[in-house]
Amino acid sequence: MPTATAGDTAILARDFDLRHLSPEFYANPYPVYSALRTHEPVKRMPDGSLFLTRFRDVQAVYRDPKTFSSDKTVEFKPKYGDSPLYTHHTTSLVFNDPPRHTRVRKLIAGALTARAIAAMEPGLVRLVDGLLDAAAERGRIDLIGEFASAIPVEIIGNLLDVPHAEREPLRDWSLAILGALEPSLTSEQFERGNRAVTEFVDYLRDLVARRRREPGDPQHDVLTRLIQGERGEGGDGEQLSEEELLQNCIFILNAGHETTTNLIGNGLVTLTEWPDQRAALLEDPSSIESAVEECLRFESSNQLGNRMTTSDTQIGGVPVARGTPITLCIGAANRDPEQFAEPDRFDIRRAPNRHLAFGFGIHQCAGLSLARLEARIAIGRFVQRFPAYRLDGEPTRGGRVRFRGFASVPLLC
Ligand code: HEM
Repeated sequence: MPTATAGDTAILARDFDLRHLSPEFYANPYPVYSALRTHEPVKRMPDGSLFLTRFRDVQAVYRDPKTFSSDKTVEFKPKYGDSPLYTHHTTSLVFNDPPRHTRVRKLIAGALTARAIAAMEPGLVRLVDGLLDAAAERGRIDLIGEFASAIPVEIIGNLLDVPHAEREPLRDWSLAILGALEPSLTSEQFERGNRAVTEFVDYLRDLVARRRREPGDPQHDVLTRLIQGERGEGGDGEQLSEEELLQNCIFILNAGHETTTNLIGNGLVTLTEWPDQRAALLEDPSSIESAVEECLRFESSNQLGNRMTTSDTQIGGVPVARGTPITLCIGAANRDPEQFAEPDRFDIRRAPNRHLAFGFGIHQCAGLSLARLEARIAIGRFVQRFPAYRLDGEPTRGGRVRFRGFASVPLLC
C-alpha cells in the first residue's frame, strides 16, 4: 500500500465529520485519528462542536469537571425532546455534575464493592468454562453471540440478582438505549430506544417492588444495597429517589454490557492479528493482566466521551466559547505517540500503560474492576483452551462509532 503523504493526511483531517463517516473509517478509524492529532488536534466540526484527539487535551478536560460539564439536560433536549430516552439519560450518573453526581456516585460505587465483585469470580469461571465446553463440542463459535455477549449479560444480571428466566430482553433493551446515543439518529432508532426505556423501567419497577418485599443479602446483592442506600453502613441515610434508582439500574446494566462484550471480542480478534503476542500470552498466562490493559488501550471499546463548556476557556491553546459541545476521542488519545511509545503496536507487556479506556477523574468507570475481571477470565481462559483458534470468515463490525466492536466473528477453535 502506498504511504500517505502529509497532504493526504491533512485532507483526511480537514474532511473529518463525525456525522458523515465512511465504511473505511468504521473498519479502521486510527489513520483518521492520527491525521487529526497531527493537523487539527482541536478539530471544529461543521456543527460547531469540538473533537479532541490528543491524550493531554482529553485528560485535561476530564480533570476539570467544573469547566467541562457532563450534565446533558440542555444538550439532549433537541435530540430527544420530552421522551423516556431524555428522562433516562439525564438521570444517569454519567450525565450529571456534582452535587447530584457525587451523591449518586457514592451510593453506586459503594454498592459495587470489592467483596461483591470478588464473590462473582467462581460463577464467572464456571460460566466461561461452560461456554468453552460448548464451543469445543462444535469446533466453531460465533465469538460475539455465543461467547463475548453471553458473559456480561449474565454477570450484570447476577450483580443485580435478576432472575434467570427474566433476563432475555436485557440485551436488546441495552443495545436499543445505547444505540440512541450515536451521533446521528434515525427515527427508528429513536423509537426503539424509547420503547426499550419504557419497558425496562416497567420491568425494574416490578423487580424493585419484589426486592423491597424480600430484600437480598446486601453483601452480594447490589440492587438491595442501592435500595437501602447507606442505611446499612451507618451512613447519613442518603438514598436514591425511585426515579434515580430505576434509571441508574438501567444505566449500570447498560454500562457493563456492550462495553465488556466488545472488550472481550476486540481482545480475542486482536490476538489473532498479533500471533507473537498470542504466543507470549500462551507461554506466560500471568501476563493476562497487562494483556487486558493493552486490549483496553489498543481497541478501546468505548471510543468517545462528551462534555460541554460552562465558561469561556481554552483547550490546547485554542480559545473555546462557553456552551461548546466537546467530544473526547478516547480511541485517539489511547494511540497518541506523545503518551505511548509505538502506539500502533499491540504489546501485551506494555508498561507503563496509563490509558483512558475507562475515562479519568470523577466520572471514571465505576465498574472497571468488574470489567477487568470478566476480561481476564474470558480472554485468558479462551486462549489457553483454544491456543490455535482462528477466523473462519470475515468478522462483521458492529457499525458504531462510540462503542467499537463486532456484531459477529466466526471462529474455528
Ligand atoms: C470494558 C468495559 C467498560 C468500559 C470500556 C467502560 C468505560 C467507561 C467510561 C469511559 C466511563 C466514563 C464516562 C465519562 O466520563 O463520560 C464509564 C463510566 C461508568 N461505567 Fe464503565 N465501562 C466498562 C464497564 C463497566 C461495567 C462492567 C460497569 C458496571 C458494572 C460500568 C459502570 C460504569 C458507571 C456506573 C459509570 C459512571 C461513572 C460516573 O459517572 O461517575 N462500566 N465507563
